Amino acid sequence: MSARGNAFRLLILPGDGIGKEVMVEVRRVAEWFRDRRGAPIELGERPFGLASWDAFGSLMPDETRAAIEDADAILFGAMDSLDQATKIPPEERKKGSLLRLRKSLDTFANLRPIKAVPALLDASTLRREIVDGVDLVFVRELTGGVYFGEPRGVETLPDGRERGVNTHVYHSDEVERVARYAFELARRRRAQGGPGRVHSVDKGNVMEAGAMWRRLMQRLHAAEYADIELHHMLADNCAMQLIRWPRQFDVIVTDNLFGDLLSDCGAMITGSLGMLPSASLGPAGADGRRRALYEPIHGSAPDIAGRGIANPLAAILSFAMCLGETLHLPDEAARLERAVDAVLAAGLRTADLAPRGSASVSTRAMGEAVIAALERA
Ligand code: IPM
Ligand code: MG
Repeated sequence: MSARGNAFRLLILPGDGIGKEVMVEVRRVAEWFRDRRGAPIELGERPFGLASWDAFGSLMPDETRAAIEDADAILFGAMDSLDQATKIPPEERKKGSLLRLRKSLDTFANLRPIKAVPALLDASTLRREIVDGVDLVFVRELTGGVYFGEPRGVETLPDGRERGVNTHVYHSDEVERVARYAFELARRRRAQGGPGRVHSVDKGNVMEAGAMWRRLMQRLHAAEYADIELHHMLADNCAMQLIRWPRQFDVIVTDNLFGDLLSDCGAMITGSLGMLPSASLGPAGADGRRRALYEPIHGSAPDIAGRGIANPLAAILSFAMCLGETLHLPDEAARLERAVDAVLAAGLRTADLAPRGSASVSTRAMGEAVIAALERA
């Protein structure tokens, strides 16, 4: 259990847009596990993002920053894009950015599971027989690569042309720690019936840093994880293979940028961004605990925000990942996943999942249905 007493401190940062709506349902689900299953949870909540700027003049108020430092895990809703928010000064933007949050928590391993839900097989743009049985997880490196590499920026040259630069850079220890996480994950999944397979994805045919990535994966594999199948795949081929034959994948480990792109491709396998959870994990401390940030991958969806129609299941399934990863309660995580499956099997659909012209339920009704299913289980 937690190093501080017996409760894990979970901090809810609803953020912006539909983050605010879906996190209300997550809070109810978390309270249910605390009150009905005795999960050792202490819940807090703080403002963050554009909503916080409007209310408090800061994207990341000091007390939010302090609560983040103090939390065992963060349950994150969504943050609005700052593109239109010209009034926010650059320093404040940096302070409140999602990228800075990831970097400051050192959450290097971003898990994005993609699992076909039987009741939603027809929601995918891919044929049912392609999607059926897909169960893969991306391990995206989240604190390095082109997202953070220096030098970066845009300069105007003496001849008047502009020059834009970003730098893709990895150090061997950054590659090795995410590789290790992926191999260990493949082992844990094999214990649950998985194939024990890792695809490492790079562009080693073009990028020196990609060739290094491949070589380091290979070396670690030979030295410590020879019991796991390792395949190297070029990133462009991986994009194609995800659409062609997604069932070949178990664990896919890749860099920050390819992980961003490929996980969006993967997301369409299930048919709805509204279904996909994620976990971002830091290095294991001396007590084995990892700082963690759980987040639905759908973002703030300003087009539907405030209408109470957003799908809360990605955020609820992110909380299921928290039950498994942070609280080490895999049986409770599975209980929550089964409740979500049961609700979908019973035909309940939010607007993003409902076939055109058919009835859909609200965010609140979906949250309530999950709790009712938990009560019944
Ligand atoms: C994601 C998002 C972010 C990313 C954006 C919002 C910065 O696309 O989490 O996949 O590129 O990492
Ligand atoms: Mg993305």
